[in-house]
Amino acid sequence: MPNPSILILPGDGIGPEVMTEVRKIISWFGDKRGLQFDVSEDLVGGAAYDKHGKPLADETMAKAQEADAVLLGAVGGPAYDDLDFSVKPERGLLRLRKEMDLYSNLRPAQCFDALADFSSLKKDIVAGLDIMIVRELTSGVYFGEPRGIFEEGNERVGINTQRYTESEIERAARSAFELAMRRGKKVCSMEKANVMESGILWREVVTRVSADYPEVELSHMYADNGAMQLVRAPKQFDVILTDNLFGDILSDCAAMLTGSLGMLPSASLGAPMENGRPKALYEPVHGSAPDIAGQGKANPIACILSFAMALRYSFDQGSEADRLEAAVEKVLADGVRTADLLGEDGVEPVSTSQMGDAVLAALDASL
Ligand code: NAD
Ligand code: IPM
Ligand code: MN
Repeated sequence: MPNPSILILPGDGIGPEVMTEVRKIISWFGDKRGLQFDVSEDLVGGAAYDKHGKPLADETMAKAQEADAVLLGAVGGPAYDDLDFSVKPERGLLRLRKEMDLYSNLRPAQCFDALADFSSLKKDIVAGLDIMIVRELTSGVYFGEPRGIFEEGNERVGINTQRYTESEIERAARSAFELAMRRGKKVCSMEKANVMESGILWREVVTRVSADYPEVELSHMYADNGAMQLVRAPKQFDVILTDNLFGDILSDCAAMLTGSLGMLPSASLGAPMENGRPKALYEPVHGSAPDIAGQGKANPIACILSFAMALRYSFDQGSEADRLEAAVEKVLADGVRTADLLGEDGVEPVSTSQMGDAVLAALDASL
């Protein structure tokens, strides 16, 4: 059996910085746990544009389709803001999601005890938080047609279309119910059925799918109320199921419940491949953070925890994923903090690579 393959796409801004730390962690699992991976690397986003004139070369797309898992850092940045829309860095990431058909985006938000004090919310509101947002990732207003900027009379009109088929809603819903079965057995579906027909269909299909999961308690919430409830009482949720755009916004909101956007990992999963593994791309929820790029300040934990999700969802190594998550938890409990996790208490922040090294030391201590 060949080793499982991982394609690393560091991308732009802090992407390469946080990915350097993940590479160390991958090597650790090879050296110390006998988990060997065939790791290759390629360009995405602005980095790919600089070389190829487009944010994802066709050869890179083909490699991603072949890989057992893709790990992505982040894309985008001010240097690319004025590019034509069709070649913007973000288009590279969207092409990966669409062509790999990664319809189910899992965005867990967990508040580690050591960070409960640091949240912008009161400690008892977030302590022990463990929720999972399932964001539909390949459809909705991100991809619906018609779209574009058109002339209309003597002015222009910008158009995007929210469009969902029943089967698109159904497969995202199934993945949320399957996850809920292995967690707290609750799904809260968020849309705006009060103002959008796509929301009405969403609610109907999710309700129909729920009949196959009688043990799971289903509730529905308008997404605007959902945003408010996430800040008011986030622990009422177990799995939140929502569409592409609402999921983008709600997951950034959930990120701050955990202390920092630099903490939140994600897995984007598609249908199983021939070898039984799902098509999969793992990436932090955060972006390229141009304001801190190149300064060694970025928190690598979101990207490290994204690799933990790869161990769990692509490589069937749930207990090694637990080990890595526990190592991160220990480092935080020991008070190791990158700058984004610091309050006013005078603690000196560590750099990106020092945080990576601290996780490695905690992994060593776990043996
Ligand atoms: P961002 O997530 O890059 O940054 C938002 C804020 O969070 C910044 O203050 C940043 O310093 C901070 N932050 C983010 N990640 C951090 C980390 N790991 N450690 C410490 N602090 C961190 O969002 P933005 O500024 O709105 O977008 C910047 C660029 O990133 C844009 O081009 C955007 O399109 C792109 N983007 C890419 C992705 C992705 O690749 N998946 C996701 C979101 C945004
Ligand atoms: C995310 C990002 C992306 C999105 C962008 C960069 C395409 O914000 O992954 O959350 O909007 O989905
Ligand atoms: Mn986002």
